[in-house]
Amino acid sequence: MNSFFSDKRFEGIKPFEKKVWLASPTMHGEEQRWVDDAIQTNWVSTIGANINEIEEKMAEYIGCGYAVALASGTSALHLATKLAAEHFYGQAPANEGTLTGRRVFCSDCTFDASVNPVAYEDGEAVFIDTEYDTWNMDPVALERAFETYPDVKLVVIAHLYGTPGKIAELKSICEKNGALIVEDAAESLGAKYKLEGKWVETGALGQYNCISFNGNKIITGSSGGMFLTDSKEDSEKIRKWSTQSREAAPWYQHREIGYNYRMSNIIAGVVRGQIPYLDEHIAQKKAIWERYERGLSDLPVKMNPWDRESSCPNFWLSCCIIDDEAMAPMFRGDQDYSYKSVSGKSSPQEILEALAAFNAEGRPIWKPMHLQPLYKRHAFVTAEGDQMADVGADIFRRGLCLPSDNKMTAEQQDRIIDIIHRCFA
Ligand SMILES: Cc1ncc(COP(=O)(O)O)c(C=O)c1O
Repeated sequence: MNSFFSDKRFEGIKPFEKKVWLASPTMHGEEQRWVDDAIQTNWVSTIGANINEIEEKMAEYIGCGYAVALASGTSALHLATKLAAEHFYGQAPANEGTLTGRRVFCSDCTFDASVNPVAYEDGEAVFIDTEYDTWNMDPVALERAFETYPDVKLVVIAHLYGTPGKIAELKSICEKNGALIVEDAAESLGAKYKLEGKWVETGALGQYNCISFNGNKIITGSSGGMFLTDSKEDSEKIRKWSTQSREAAPWYQHREIGYNYRMSNIIAGVVRGQIPYLDEHIAQKKAIWERYERGLSDLPVKMNPWDRESSCPNFWLSCCIIDDEAMAPMFRGDQDYSYKSVSGKSSPQEILEALAAFNAEGRPIWKPMHLQPLYKRHAFVTAEGDQMADVGADIFRRGLCLPSDNKMTAEQQDRIIDIIHRCFA
């Protein structure tokens, strides 16, 4: 680590006494009431009023028919992917995944939980490159992927950092090719997209839709997730699979593989206390994004972009990307890195180190899936068809996630903006 305290550029900057987080949980007090209610009424397992209430409230908020509360966004994505696979390929034998021998197109710039369920079901993820306008799946690359693999029927689409992607184009390409969308709205709860002139919430844009209540998300249950659908039959299937696929028999009877993926009524109590604050959290995150945009406007960086006509992000994470000409040399290996300080330039690793030195948490851009050692043998499709024109790798190289905690004060954010300026001094 550089010694930022003896570096003249940072003279006079004081470290934060309390760490400024990337995105930490924000409890309001009502959560306690519903957790206590679960304990006092003895409904602490996977049935209870909190679960019923949050399923009803989230279905209403998102504008879909049914919500199924699950243990995590990852479990929601696993069951959504499996259900989508069964729709096309039928039920697999107990010792085989539902996607055995099948390819699935997946967002490349996302967290690995979006795409791992394809591997859980023995399928092969094909990664689709990212576009610069919203940092999400590139419709041009998706179209190209269908030309190469016309048999593919499933597409897993995430909305990175709470910004909806080019959904109208992606949807129409999927429709043209008879494919269905598994929507990963884990990061984008509360974000909207204008589809055919009508605002639709993320989580209602695909055929099999998921959200997360992980501790760092816009609202949290400490953990938890949901499957969202308009199909009563699908919601019942997911509920059944998530509670060990028990048949309606007097004994334990199983026709299908089961999972222990249901949410507990205690976790649901935390979510129940958080739901009334979702819009407030979004407004706070939006104010943070806008303050960064103003505060960094004189630097050679851009904020993470969004489509102002057709989308309202939830601004879960504020990010920035350094202009190519202002990138100081930086090297990243599999687990380590190095960089050089150059006057008038900087790099994500230098900024992240400076922030950490003054007790603020940023993070590199999610490393694209096709660059992960785990998935290095998987196909990766770019818009140009040329592996060198790799947009995801470029955003990962030049971008970073800024401290985006909704409890960060304006003064703290100003100090962060000051630190970033000094990195470029
Ligand atoms: C895009 C994305 N998908 C899926 C997940 C998984 O959700 P969970 O942590 O609730 O399992 C996360 C984050 O955790 C995520 O960011």
